[in-house]
Formats: sequence, structure tokens, C-alpha cells
Amino acid sequence: MVVGNWKMHGSLALGETLAKSISTFANRPHIVLCPPATLIQTLSAAFPAVSWGAQDCHAHRQGAFTGEISASMLKDAGANYVIVGHSERRAGHHENDAAVKAKAEAAVEVGLIPIICVGEPADIRARGDALQYVSSQLSSSLPETAPDLVIAYEPVWAIGTGKTAMLEDIEAMHTHIKQVVAHKGQNQGEKIRVLYGGSVKPENAREILLCPVVDGVLVGGASLDAVQFCSIIEAARK
Ligand code: PGA
Repeated sequence: MVVGNWKMHGSLALGETLAKSISTFANRPHIVLCPPATLIQTLSAAFPAVSWGAQDCHAHRQGAFTGEISASMLKDAGANYVIVGHSERRAGHHENDAAVKAKAEAAVEVGLIPIICVGEPADIRARGDALQYVSSQLSSSLPETAPDLVIAYEPVWAIGTGKTAMLEDIEAMHTHIKQVVAHKGQNQGEKIRVLYGGSVKPENAREILLCPVVDGVLVGGASLDAVQFCSIIEAARK
């Protein structure tokens, strides 16, 4: 699975150009594009060969929440996925695990698949507490039930920095995440998808995707460049 998070970048014209190049790939790997919410409706209608996702949703279905967008509105616009708990929202919008859980539950309730982001800051990794930190984040952010669930492990210090986690650390963390989710009783017996994110580029995608416990990648910066993103998709096809 290869997910592109465009963040607050792009325009309809850029979105169409990117989606056109990316749509040339067949169903393998599963591709999900998460553009700004304003583009979901138009792009999902024009490019049904890929899946579409949003970058965030509100925990309530509707109400007096000026500026917010609910999961059902995103679904209505053509989204199938929604990212929740991205570190930029956890840090910049003070979203705690309880808020992330509420958003994930709102997504599940309307049939969207949540992509729940977790990941440790640099000081926690340096202290050797990364596994413990992510377990706690995960246990409190998981929805009570979810027929389909994607977890994205994104070390905060690797996002947009050009630094990536070491392969053995990615492997250890992904194995740990799968155990925590299984222990919580979610998707037991089923395969949950755990993605790696944080400065994924064409140069490192292949080795990351070769780890048996890595089910895909979540790509920020490189997803805005058709050549780079398509070469990451190629790496996932091999
Ligand atoms: P990056 O972003 O690929 O630019 O590091 C990843 C993300 O924020 O999801």
C-alpha cells in the first residue's frame, strides 16, 4: 500500500496532473491519495482507479463546529480513507490520544478506513523509550472496533527532515505495533496494515518496503512529485 499525503499543498491543476500519472498503475500496489479536502470530490470522480483519503476529520457527525469537516462529509465527497493523529495535528492542534481515538471511531462509524498515525519524538528515541511510547499512544488512540485498520508508524523526527529510521528499528517497531493491536483484540487473526512514514524517497523506498513487517509507506514531500511518487510505487510493485 502506498499512501500520498499532500498536506496543505497543491491546486486542482497539480492534483489532476499527479493523479493522471499515478492512475496509469494497475491495482497493485493499493494507492491512496490524500489531497486537501477541497479537491477530494473532483479528483475522486475523475480518477477512480486510485483510492482517495482525507488528512483529518472531526469527531462529530455534524454541528456548530465552524471550519471543521466530518467523516460523513468526506465519505460523501468520495473518500474511503482518512488520516487521523498525524504528528502535525497532534503537535500543532494539541490533539491528544483521546481526540485521535474519537476521530478514528467517527471514521469507522461511517465506513471510512482510518489511517492512525503514531510515532516518537527524537528525545524519546534517544532515551530508548520509543517502543513504550508508541504502545501507549496506540493503545489510547485505537477505536473500540474497526473492521479495517491502517496504522502509520511515523517517527516525528523523520517527517520532512530527510532522516529515516534504521531498518532494524522499523522492523522492531512494526512487529511491536502488530502485537499491541492483536493484544487489544482488534483484527485478531486478520492482517492489519502497518505503514512506515518519514522521509520516504525513491532512494530508500525499496529497502523499507522489503521488510516483511512493512505493509506499505506513507509519503509526504515525495508524493507531490509525480516522478518520485511513481518510482516509490514501482518499488512497491517489485
Ligand atoms: P515526509 O512526510 O514524507 O515529507 O517526511 C511524511 C508524512 O508527514 O506523512
